[in-house]
Amino acid sequence: MRPAPLAVILGLSLAGAAFAADMSVRDQMKTVVEPGASTLFAVGGEVDPANGPDAATVPEARWDEALKAAKALKGVGADLTGSQKKPGEEWAKAAADFATLADDAVKAATKKDGAGFSKAANDLGDTCTACHSKYKKQG
Ligand code: HEC
Repeated sequence: MRPAPLAVILGLSLAGAAFAADMSVRDQMKTVVEPGASTLFAVGGEVDPANGPDAATVPEARWDEALKAAKALKGVGADLTGSQKKPGEEWAKAAADFATLADDAVKAATKKDGAGFSKAANDLGDTCTACHSKYKKQG
């Protein structure tokens, strides 16, 4: 029996902890990167110590979500770096930065390090623009 297509599994699991090889870049972006990054950006704001003293009291469940999202992004990062999907140095650099920052986010979420997590989430946002400005059709 053939295993269910990855996209179906991803859809059912809401892209949690996804392993995203085999997918097109576009599908990875839509099903894993976009939802994962939006969780990272949201939690990044909540745990940022610069946002006030309550940031450190973020509930356990929220950190779990953050960790799951960061792991999903790390999986995509490994895939984006492991196979150069588009020509040019910019791809290798943006993909490597993405992978490094996703890993930073995993580590910070594991330690519940608010400052580290919010920085990783912020910096990760810069890699989206860096790669898209060259490789994604605008419009
Ligand atoms: C290493 C390169 C690279 C990085 C880093 C990257 N992207 Fe992308 N992204 C692409 C490419 C290439 C496309 C266009 C894919 C296509 O249409 O074939 C794309 C498309 C998208 C799309 C549109 C998908 C659709 O429905 O057409 C979204 C949303 C997206 N990226 C989100 C993100 C976010 C959020 C980040 C950062 C957290 C990010 N991407 C980081 C390369 C990258």
